[in-house]
Amino acid sequence: MDGNEQGVRFEGRVVLVTGAASGMGAAIARQVAAEGARAVVVADVNGDGVETVAKELTAGRAVPLDVADAAAVDAVVEDVLREHGRLDVVVHAAGVDDPQAKQLIADALVEGRPIEVTDRLDDAAWRRVTRVNLDGTFHVLRAAVRAMRPVGAGAIVVIGSSSAFDTPVGYPHYAASKAGVHALSQAVAKEVIASGIRVNVVAPGPTETGMAARTPEVLRSGFADPRVRPYATPEEIADIALFLASEASVNLVGAVLLANGGRFTA
Ligand SMILES: NC(=O)c1ccc[n+]([C@@H]2O[C@H](COP(=O)([O-])OP(=O)(O)OC[C@H]3O[C@@H](n4cnc5c(N)ncnc54)[C@H](O)[C@@H]3O)[C@@H](O)[C@H]2O)c1
Repeated sequence: MDGNEQGVRFEGRVVLVTGAASGMGAAIARQVAAEGARAVVVADVNGDGVETVAKELTAGRAVPLDVADAAAVDAVVEDVLREHGRLDVVVHAAGVDDPQAKQLIADALVEGRPIEVTDRLDDAAWRRVTRVNLDGTFHVLRAAVRAMRPVGAGAIVVIGSSSAFDTPVGYPHYAASKAGVHALSQAVAKEVIASGIRVNVVAPGPTETGMAARTPEVLRSGFADPRVRPYATPEEIADIALFLASEASVNLVGAVLLANGGRFTA
């Protein structure tokens, strides 16, 4: 895309990005601001991190937000409507991994043992991943639809994961949460297109972000396959998210775009 086109794609738009303190969310916030958004509200549970990102943006405002807290999500969207009168685009990138489970997988690989995680997964680990990834997505979708339905327009992009398709051994809670994110987003997409709202998902493969930095080296090197693309950059995933948020993808509804550099097809 050349510079001229970039300037106009999101001109005048009011945009909310969750998980915007780091990785893909931060890249999406920067890109949408650079492409003319009138307001970019950047929300993240990491309040300091999102302050730093907001300061870089011309029309950025930081909001501390835990997406697992339904009332807090509603309050942020209501604030946006009060301040700007509309909400055109929501990109939901907030999500968590499980560094402890990753370590169990890595240890097993190093020691040449079978991976045994499920029987060691406690309720707290299961709930943390599903509350943030799946419940959080529901909270964000619901609040966004409440804001957009009366206007009859809007675009919502959710970051899912390739892990929902090629479920990683020893990572069942994460895979299940992301499969739920895909199905939830697709069901909502089919419902709300009648109100002019488009919901789509990008499902990234390994991407160089804060989350990837928490992956032990033995697992990371498992993804280094010279026959496929290396780890994606957050900007490459942001490009796809912005395409889904833009008018260029007007006929995409409930799509789950697998963006994994050729690791597998779905
Ligand atoms: N990095 C990868 O390889 C990869 C691959 C596939 C999917 N994903 C997904 O991409 C999305 C973005 O992750 P990333 O890779 O940029 O990681 P990241 O850790 O760099 O960014 C995720 C952001 O979400 C925030 N966050 C976590 N819990 C939150 C909560 N409860 N409320 C609000 N914000 C919260 C974090 O503070 C962080 O800023 C996530 O949904 C992740 O599951 C990542």
